[in-house]
Amino acid sequence: MSYTVNTLRTMTRSCEQMRDRVKSIVFKPEDRKTLDLTFGPQLAGELVGRTPEALSKAEKEGRLAPPKQQGNGRRFYTLEDLTQIRTALGIHAGKAADEDAVVVAVQNFKGGVGKSTITKHFADYLALHGYSVLVIDCDPQASTTTMFDIQPESLIDDEQTLGAFLSPRSTFDDFAATIRETALATIRIVPSSLGLQDAEWDLTATLREGGQAVREGLQALRIGIASVVKDYDVILLDPPPAMGFLGLNVMAAATGLLVPVPARQLDYLSTIHFMETIAENLEILEQHGTPVDYGFIRIVCSTYSPNKPGEQDMWKMMQATYANFLLSQPILASEEVKNATQSFRSIYESKPSASHETYKRCRENLDAVFGEVIHQIRQQWPSTSNTASSIVGIAA
Ligand SMILES: Nc1ncnc2c1ncn2[C@@H]1O[C@H](COP(=O)(O)OP(=O)(O)OP(=O)(O)O)[C@@H](O)[C@H]1O
Ligand SMILES: [Mg+2]
Repeated sequence: MSYTVNTLRTMTRSCEQMRDRVKSIVFKPEDRKTLDLTFGPQLAGELVGRTPEALSKAEKEGRLAPPKQQGNGRRFYTLEDLTQIRTALGIHAGKAADEDAVVVAVQNFKGGVGKSTITKHFADYLALHGYSVLVIDCDPQASTTTMFDIQPESLIDDEQTLGAFLSPRSTFDDFAATIRETALATIRIVPSSLGLQDAEWDLTATLREGGQAVREGLQALRIGIASVVKDYDVILLDPPPAMGFLGLNVMAAATGLLVPVPARQLDYLSTIHFMETIAENLEILEQHGTPVDYGFIRIVCSTYSPNKPGEQDMWKMMQATYANFLLSQPILASEEVKNATQSFRSIYESKPSASHETYKRCRENLDAVFGEVIHQIRQQWPSTSNTASSIVGIAA
Protein backbone atom coordinates (compact mmCIF):
# COMPACT_ATOMS: atom_id res chain seq x y z
CA MET A 1 0.00 0.00 0.00
CA SER A 2 1.36 3.46 -0.89
CA TYR A 3 2.41 5.98 1.71
CA THR A 4 -0.49 8.26 0.70
CA VAL A 5 -3.15 5.55 1.01
CA ASN A 6 -1.68 4.47 4.36
CA THR A 7 -1.72 8.00 5.69
CA LEU A 8 -5.30 8.58 4.55
CA ARG A 9 -6.47 5.35 6.20
CA THR A 10 -4.77 6.29 9.47
CA MET A 11 -6.41 9.70 9.35
CA THR A 12 -9.82 8.12 8.66
CA ARG A 13 -9.47 5.80 11.68
CA SER A 14 -8.58 8.62 14.01
CA CYS A 15 -11.44 10.78 12.62
CA GLU A 16 -13.90 7.97 13.25
CA GLN A 17 -12.81 7.79 16.88
CA MET A 18 -13.24 11.53 17.25
CA ARG A 19 -16.67 11.49 15.58
CA ASP A 20 -18.55 9.97 18.48
CA ARG A 21 -16.96 12.40 20.91
CA VAL A 22 -17.93 15.35 18.70
CA LYS A 23 -21.49 14.07 18.41
CA SER A 24 -21.92 13.86 22.15
CA ILE A 25 -20.50 17.35 22.68
CA VAL A 26 -22.11 19.27 19.82
CA PHE A 27 -25.59 17.82 19.45
CA LYS A 28 -27.23 18.25 22.80
CA PRO A 29 -30.97 17.57 22.77
CA GLU A 30 -31.59 20.80 24.68
CA ASP A 31 -30.15 22.77 21.73
CA ARG A 32 -33.03 21.74 19.47
CA LYS A 33 -34.92 24.61 17.94
CA THR A 34 -38.24 25.37 19.55
CA LEU A 35 -40.71 27.63 17.85
CA ASP A 36 -42.54 30.17 19.88
CA LEU A 37 -44.59 31.88 17.19
CA THR A 38 -47.60 33.99 18.02
CA PHE A 39 -49.78 36.13 15.75
CA GLY A 40 -52.01 39.12 16.40
CA PRO A 41 -55.63 39.06 15.10
CA GLN A 42 -54.71 40.88 11.86
CA LEU A 43 -51.95 38.46 10.83
CA ALA A 44 -53.83 35.39 12.11
CA GLY A 45 -56.77 36.49 9.98
CA GLU A 46 -54.56 36.90 6.90
CA LEU A 47 -53.01 33.47 7.40
CA VAL A 48 -56.35 31.67 7.61
CA GLY A 49 -58.06 33.88 5.01
CA ARG A 50 -60.59 35.61 7.31
CA THR A 51 -60.88 39.15 8.65
CA PRO A 52 -60.05 39.73 12.33
CA GLU A 53 -63.70 40.77 12.76
CA ALA A 54 -64.90 37.44 11.36
CA LEU A 55 -62.64 35.58 13.80
CA SER A 56 -63.91 37.70 16.67
CA LYS A 57 -67.53 37.04 15.67
CA ALA A 58 -66.94 33.27 15.45
CA GLU A 59 -65.34 33.39 18.91
CA LYS A 60 -68.32 35.24 20.37
CA GLU A 61 -70.73 32.79 18.78
CA GLY A 62 -68.79 29.86 20.24
CA ARG A 63 -67.76 28.44 16.84
CA LEU A 64 -64.15 29.08 17.85
CA ALA A 65 -62.47 28.65 21.23
CA PRO A 66 -62.04 31.89 23.21
CA PRO A 67 -58.78 33.56 22.14
CA LYS A 68 -55.69 33.76 24.31
CA GLN A 69 -54.99 37.20 25.70
CA GLN A 70 -51.83 39.05 26.63
CA GLY A 71 -51.56 41.02 29.88
CA ASN A 72 -52.83 44.13 28.06
CA GLY A 73 -55.93 42.25 26.89
CA ARG A 74 -54.86 41.93 23.23
CA ARG A 75 -55.84 38.70 21.47
CA PHE A 76 -53.13 36.44 20.10
CA TYR A 77 -52.96 33.08 18.37
CA THR A 78 -50.37 30.28 18.20
CA LEU A 79 -49.68 28.02 15.23
CA GLU A 80 -51.81 25.31 16.82
CA ASP A 81 -54.64 27.85 17.21
CA LEU A 82 -54.47 28.55 13.46
CA THR A 83 -54.80 24.84 12.73
CA GLN A 84 -57.79 24.62 15.07
CA ILE A 85 -59.42 27.66 13.47
CA ARG A 86 -59.04 26.09 10.00
CA THR A 87 -60.57 22.84 11.23
CA ALA A 88 -63.44 24.56 13.07
CA LEU A 89 -64.31 26.86 10.16
CA GLY A 90 -63.80 24.24 7.44
CA ILE A 91 -60.94 26.14 5.78
CA HIS A 92 -58.81 23.91 3.60
CA ALA A 93 -55.76 25.49 1.95
CA GLY A 94 -54.24 22.68 -0.07
CA LYS A 95 -55.10 20.08 -2.66
CA ALA A 96 -57.86 17.49 -2.59
CA ALA A 97 -56.89 14.19 -0.96
CA ASP A 98 -56.70 12.29 -4.26
CA GLU A 99 -54.54 14.89 -6.02
CA ASP A 100 -50.75 14.83 -6.23
CA ALA A 101 -48.37 17.20 -4.50
CA VAL A 102 -46.78 19.81 -6.74
CA VAL A 103 -43.04 19.09 -6.75
CA VAL A 104 -41.13 22.37 -7.07
CA ALA A 105 -37.40 22.35 -7.82
CA VAL A 106 -35.66 25.58 -6.80
CA GLN A 107 -33.06 25.02 -9.45
CA ASN A 108 -30.08 26.85 -10.90
CA PHE A 109 -26.66 25.30 -11.47
CA LYS A 110 -25.00 28.47 -10.26
CA GLY A 111 -23.93 28.51 -6.62
CA GLY A 112 -24.97 31.13 -4.07
CA VAL A 113 -28.01 32.47 -5.96
CA GLY A 114 -30.42 31.93 -3.05
CA LYS A 115 -31.76 28.40 -3.68
CA SER A 116 -31.59 27.23 -0.08
CA THR A 117 -32.75 30.57 1.34
CA ILE A 118 -35.80 30.50 -0.92
CA THR A 119 -36.51 26.83 -0.15
CA LYS A 120 -36.48 27.45 3.60
CA HIS A 121 -38.53 30.66 3.43
CA PHE A 122 -41.07 29.26 0.99
CA ALA A 123 -41.51 26.13 3.11
CA ASP A 124 -42.21 28.24 6.20
CA TYR A 125 -44.52 30.55 4.26
CA LEU A 126 -46.51 27.58 2.95
CA ALA A 127 -46.77 26.02 6.40
CA LEU A 128 -48.02 29.27 7.96
CA HIS A 129 -50.70 29.46 5.26
CA GLY A 130 -51.95 25.96 6.03
CA TYR A 131 -50.20 23.84 3.39
CA SER A 132 -48.40 20.63 4.26
CA VAL A 133 -44.86 20.57 2.96
CA LEU A 134 -42.08 18.07 2.37
CA VAL A 135 -38.61 19.53 1.82
CA ILE A 136 -36.03 17.27 0.18
CA ASP A 137 -32.48 18.50 0.59
CA CYS A 138 -30.59 17.03 -2.37
CA ASP A 139 -27.44 19.08 -1.77
CA PRO A 140 -24.55 17.36 0.04
CA GLN A 141 -23.66 20.82 1.48
CA ALA A 142 -26.82 20.36 3.60
CA SER A 143 -27.50 24.05 4.31
CA THR A 144 -31.27 23.60 4.09
CA THR A 145 -31.09 20.58 6.40
CA THR A 146 -29.23 22.68 8.96
CA MET A 147 -31.86 25.45 8.68
CA PHE A 148 -34.46 22.86 9.67
CA ASP A 149 -32.41 22.13 12.75
CA ILE A 150 -31.04 18.78 11.71
CA GLN A 151 -27.27 18.35 11.87
CA PRO A 152 -26.11 16.19 8.95
CA GLU A 153 -23.36 14.78 11.19
CA SER A 154 -26.05 13.37 13.48
CA LEU A 155 -27.14 11.08 10.62
CA ILE A 156 -23.71 9.50 10.19
CA ASP A 157 -24.73 6.12 11.58
CA ASP A 158 -28.20 6.31 10.09
CA GLU A 159 -28.81 3.90 7.26
CA GLN A 160 -32.22 5.26 6.29
CA THR A 161 -31.01 8.30 4.36
CA LEU A 162 -31.62 9.89 0.98
CA GLY A 163 -28.08 8.89 -0.04
CA ALA A 164 -28.79 5.23 0.75
CA PHE A 165 -32.14 5.40 -1.04
CA LEU A 166 -30.67 6.91 -4.21
CA SER A 167 -27.53 4.79 -4.37
CA PRO A 168 -27.84 1.85 -6.77
CA ARG A 169 -25.38 -0.02 -4.55
CA SER A 170 -27.73 0.02 -1.56
CA THR A 171 -30.71 -2.30 -1.06
CA PHE A 172 -32.55 0.27 1.09
CA ASP A 173 -35.72 1.20 -0.80
CA ASP A 174 -38.13 2.68 1.75
CA PHE A 175 -38.26 6.36 0.78
CA ALA A 176 -40.85 7.20 3.45
CA ALA A 177 -38.39 6.06 6.13
CA THR A 178 -36.00 8.90 5.17
CA ILE A 179 -38.57 11.54 6.18
CA ARG A 180 -38.04 13.37 9.51
CA GLU A 181 -40.09 15.79 11.54
CA THR A 182 -39.17 19.45 11.94
CA ALA A 183 -40.01 22.06 14.57
CA LEU A 184 -43.06 23.00 12.47
CA ALA A 185 -45.68 20.26 12.59
CA THR A 186 -46.71 20.65 8.94
CA ILE A 187 -43.21 20.60 7.46
CA ARG A 188 -41.31 17.34 7.10
CA ILE A 189 -37.85 16.98 5.64
CA VAL A 190 -35.74 14.40 3.90
CA PRO A 191 -32.38 15.63 5.17
CA SER A 192 -29.17 15.65 3.21
CA SER A 193 -26.43 13.51 4.65
CA LEU A 194 -22.75 13.05 4.10
CA GLY A 195 -23.48 9.87 2.09
CA LEU A 196 -25.32 11.88 -0.57
CA GLN A 197 -22.07 12.65 -2.35
CA ASP A 198 -21.30 8.91 -2.51
CA ALA A 199 -24.75 8.36 -4.00
CA GLU A 200 -23.88 10.88 -6.73
CA TRP A 201 -20.77 8.87 -7.60
CA ASP A 202 -22.64 5.55 -7.47
CA LEU A 203 -25.34 6.98 -9.74
CA THR A 204 -22.74 8.30 -12.18
CA ALA A 205 -21.18 4.83 -12.30
CA THR A 206 -24.42 3.52 -13.87
CA LEU A 207 -23.24 5.21 -17.08
CA ARG A 208 -20.80 2.32 -17.53
CA GLU A 209 -23.66 -0.18 -17.50
CA GLY A 210 -25.94 1.95 -19.67
CA GLY A 211 -29.58 1.19 -20.60
CA GLN A 212 -31.83 0.14 -17.76
CA ALA A 213 -29.27 1.01 -15.07
CA VAL A 214 -29.03 4.63 -16.25
CA ARG A 215 -32.81 4.92 -16.49
CA GLU A 216 -33.23 3.63 -12.94
CA GLY A 217 -30.46 5.96 -11.78
CA LEU A 218 -32.21 8.98 -13.31
CA GLN A 219 -35.62 8.05 -11.95
CA ALA A 220 -34.59 7.11 -8.41
CA LEU A 221 -35.86 10.29 -6.72
CA ARG A 222 -38.99 10.44 -8.87
CA ILE A 223 -39.87 6.88 -7.82
CA GLY A 224 -39.26 7.69 -4.15
CA ILE A 225 -41.46 10.79 -4.32
CA ALA A 226 -44.23 8.87 -6.08
CA SER A 227 -44.63 6.77 -2.90
CA VAL A 228 -45.55 9.86 -0.81
CA VAL A 229 -46.94 12.23 -3.44
CA LYS A 230 -50.50 12.21 -2.04
CA ASP A 231 -49.33 12.93 1.52
CA TYR A 232 -48.22 16.56 1.00
CA ASP A 233 -49.47 19.64 -0.80
CA VAL A 234 -46.08 20.86 -1.93
CA ILE A 235 -42.75 19.06 -2.16
CA LEU A 236 -39.72 21.37 -2.40
CA LEU A 237 -36.44 20.16 -3.87
CA ASP A 238 -33.18 21.96 -3.08
CA PRO A 239 -30.55 20.68 -5.54
CA PRO A 240 -26.78 21.03 -5.47
CA PRO A 241 -25.26 23.87 -7.54
CA ALA A 242 -23.90 21.55 -10.23
CA MET A 243 -25.29 19.39 -12.94
CA GLY A 244 -24.64 15.78 -12.10
CA PHE A 245 -26.85 12.80 -11.43
CA LEU A 246 -28.35 14.41 -8.32
CA GLY A 247 -29.28 17.49 -10.37
CA LEU A 248 -30.75 15.29 -13.08
CA ASN A 249 -32.74 13.37 -10.48
CA VAL A 250 -34.17 16.66 -9.24
CA MET A 251 -35.08 17.73 -12.77
CA ALA A 252 -36.73 14.37 -13.45
CA ALA A 253 -38.73 14.43 -10.21
CA ALA A 254 -39.98 18.04 -10.39
CA THR A 255 -43.34 19.08 -11.81
CA GLY A 256 -42.63 22.81 -11.54
CA LEU A 257 -39.46 24.86 -11.76
CA LEU A 258 -38.51 28.01 -9.83
CA VAL A 259 -35.21 29.48 -11.03
CA PRO A 260 -33.58 32.09 -8.76
CA VAL A 261 -31.44 34.64 -10.60
CA PRO A 262 -29.87 37.61 -8.77
CA ALA A 263 -29.94 40.94 -10.61
CA ARG A 264 -26.23 40.70 -11.35
CA GLN A 265 -24.69 40.48 -14.78
CA LEU A 266 -22.70 37.30 -14.21
CA ASP A 267 -25.65 35.47 -12.73
CA TYR A 268 -27.86 36.65 -15.57
CA LEU A 269 -25.39 35.36 -18.16
CA SER A 270 -24.89 32.03 -16.39
CA THR A 271 -28.65 31.59 -16.32
CA ILE A 272 -28.77 31.72 -20.11
CA HIS A 273 -26.31 28.83 -20.02
CA PHE A 274 -28.49 27.12 -17.40
CA MET A 275 -31.55 27.34 -19.67
CA GLU A 276 -29.64 25.80 -22.55
CA THR A 277 -28.31 23.02 -20.33
CA ILE A 278 -31.77 22.37 -18.90
CA ALA A 279 -33.24 21.95 -22.38
CA GLU A 280 -30.40 19.58 -23.35
CA ASN A 281 -30.80 17.61 -20.13
CA LEU A 282 -34.53 17.28 -20.59
CA GLU A 283 -33.77 15.74 -23.97
CA ILE A 284 -31.27 13.38 -22.37
CA LEU A 285 -33.87 12.38 -19.78
CA GLU A 286 -36.40 11.77 -22.52
CA GLN A 287 -33.93 9.63 -24.50
CA HIS A 288 -33.48 7.54 -21.36
CA GLY A 289 -37.18 6.87 -21.00
CA THR A 290 -37.80 9.65 -18.45
CA PRO A 291 -39.94 12.30 -20.17
CA VAL A 292 -40.40 15.50 -18.17
CA ASP A 293 -43.07 18.13 -18.62
CA TYR A 294 -43.25 20.97 -16.12
CA GLY A 295 -46.58 22.52 -15.17
CA PHE A 296 -44.79 25.87 -14.79
CA ILE A 297 -41.36 27.43 -15.09
CA ARG A 298 -40.79 30.74 -13.33
CA ILE A 299 -37.67 32.86 -12.94
CA VAL A 300 -37.48 34.78 -9.68
CA CYS A 301 -35.12 37.68 -9.29
CA SER A 302 -33.39 36.89 -6.00
CA THR A 303 -31.42 39.41 -3.94
CA TYR A 304 -32.33 42.63 -5.75
CA SER A 305 -30.71 45.85 -4.46
CA PRO A 306 -32.21 48.69 -6.52
CA ASN A 307 -29.69 51.16 -5.06
CA LYS A 308 -26.65 49.16 -6.16
CA PRO A 309 -25.07 50.32 -9.42
CA GLY A 310 -26.41 48.47 -12.44
CA GLU A 311 -29.04 46.37 -10.64
CA GLN A 312 -32.01 48.41 -11.84
CA ASP A 313 -30.76 47.99 -15.41
CA MET A 314 -30.33 44.25 -14.87
CA TRP A 315 -33.86 44.02 -13.47
CA LYS A 316 -35.22 45.82 -16.56
CA MET A 317 -33.23 43.48 -18.79
CA MET A 318 -34.66 40.47 -16.97
CA GLN A 319 -38.17 41.84 -17.41
CA ALA A 320 -37.56 42.29 -21.13
CA THR A 321 -35.95 38.86 -21.60
CA TYR A 322 -38.09 36.61 -19.46
CA ALA A 323 -41.37 38.50 -19.86
CA ASN A 324 -44.24 36.34 -18.61
CA PHE A 325 -41.90 33.76 -17.12
CA LEU A 326 -40.52 36.23 -14.60
CA LEU A 327 -42.30 36.71 -11.26
CA SER A 328 -43.46 40.32 -11.22
CA GLN A 329 -41.93 40.99 -7.78
CA PRO A 330 -38.17 40.62 -7.19
CA ILE A 331 -36.89 39.36 -3.84
CA LEU A 332 -35.19 42.33 -2.25
CA ALA A 333 -31.72 41.89 -0.77
CA SER A 334 -32.35 42.33 2.92
CA GLU A 335 -30.29 42.36 6.09
CA GLU A 336 -33.26 40.67 7.77
CA VAL A 337 -32.94 37.63 5.49
CA LYS A 338 -29.18 37.62 5.83
CA ASN A 339 -29.26 37.80 9.62
CA ALA A 340 -32.01 35.19 9.88
CA THR A 341 -30.24 32.66 7.64
CA GLN A 342 -26.98 33.22 9.48
CA SER A 343 -28.70 31.96 12.59
CA PHE A 344 -30.22 29.09 10.53
CA ARG A 345 -33.73 30.51 10.52
CA SER A 346 -36.17 32.11 8.15
CA ILE A 347 -37.55 35.58 8.78
CA TYR A 348 -40.93 33.90 9.38
CA GLU A 349 -39.56 32.31 12.56
CA SER A 350 -37.42 35.26 13.66
CA LYS A 351 -38.08 38.50 15.44
CA PRO A 352 -37.08 41.75 13.65
CA SER A 353 -33.29 42.15 13.74
CA ALA A 354 -33.38 45.89 13.00
CA SER A 355 -36.49 48.08 13.04
CA HIS A 356 -39.99 46.67 12.94
CA GLU A 357 -40.56 48.62 9.69
CA THR A 358 -37.60 46.95 7.93
CA TYR A 359 -38.81 43.54 9.03
CA LYS A 360 -42.34 44.29 7.85
CA ARG A 361 -41.10 45.46 4.43
CA CYS A 362 -39.01 42.33 4.05
CA ARG A 363 -41.87 40.05 5.04
CA GLU A 364 -44.36 41.81 2.76
CA ASN A 365 -41.92 41.50 -0.12
CA LEU A 366 -41.45 37.74 0.40
CA ASP A 367 -45.20 37.24 0.90
CA ALA A 368 -45.86 38.93 -2.45
CA VAL A 369 -43.26 36.80 -4.26
CA PHE A 370 -44.45 33.53 -2.73
CA GLY A 371 -48.07 34.51 -3.37
CA GLU A 372 -47.23 34.44 -7.08
CA VAL A 373 -45.68 30.97 -6.79
CA ILE A 374 -48.69 29.68 -4.86
CA HIS A 375 -50.86 30.94 -7.67
CA GLN A 376 -48.90 28.72 -10.10
CA ILE A 377 -49.10 25.78 -7.71
CA ARG A 378 -52.86 26.07 -7.23
CA GLN A 379 -53.35 26.02 -10.97
CA GLN A 380 -51.84 22.52 -11.05
CA TRP A 381 -54.66 21.05 -8.93
CA PRO A 382 -58.03 20.67 -10.68
CA SER A 383 -59.79 21.28 -7.34
CA THR A 384 -58.21 24.74 -6.94
CA SER A 385 -57.42 25.87 -10.48
CA ASN A 386 -60.53 28.07 -10.55
CA THR A 387 -59.64 29.69 -7.23
CA ALA A 388 -55.92 30.03 -7.92
CA SER A 389 -55.91 33.69 -6.94
CA SER A 390 -56.85 32.84 -3.36
CA ILE A 391 -53.73 31.77 -1.51
CA VAL A 392 -55.31 30.48 1.65
CA GLY A 393 -58.04 28.30 0.30
CA ILE A 394 -61.78 28.32 0.50
CA ALA A 395 -64.33 27.14 2.98
CA ALA A 396 -65.18 23.50 2.44
N1 LIG B 1 -32.87 38.12 -0.09
C1 LIG B 1 -31.65 38.02 0.45
N2 LIG B 1 -31.13 39.07 1.10
C2 LIG B 1 -29.90 39.00 1.65
N3 LIG B 1 -29.10 37.92 1.59
C3 LIG B 1 -29.57 36.83 0.94
C4 LIG B 1 -30.86 36.82 0.34
N4 LIG B 1 -31.03 35.60 -0.24
C5 LIG B 1 -29.91 34.89 0.00
N5 LIG B 1 -29.02 35.64 0.71
C6 LIG B 1 -27.70 35.21 1.17
O1 LIG B 1 -26.94 34.75 0.05
C7 LIG B 1 -26.12 33.66 0.41
C8 LIG B 1 -26.36 32.50 -0.55
O2 LIG B 1 -27.69 32.03 -0.40
P1 LIG B 1 -28.06 30.48 -0.48
O3 LIG B 1 -27.18 29.66 0.40
O4 LIG B 1 -29.52 30.41 -0.27
O5 LIG B 1 -27.69 30.19 -2.00
P2 LIG B 1 -27.67 28.76 -2.74
O6 LIG B 1 -28.03 29.03 -4.15
O7 LIG B 1 -28.47 27.77 -2.00
O8 LIG B 1 -26.13 28.40 -2.60
P3 LIG B 1 -25.46 26.98 -2.96
O9 LIG B 1 -25.41 26.93 -4.45
O10 LIG B 1 -24.11 27.06 -2.32
O11 LIG B 1 -26.33 25.90 -2.41
C9 LIG B 1 -26.46 33.34 1.87
O12 LIG B 1 -25.46 33.90 2.68
C10 LIG B 1 -27.78 34.03 2.11
O13 LIG B 1 -27.91 34.47 3.45
MG1 LIG C 1 -27.97 25.84 -1.31
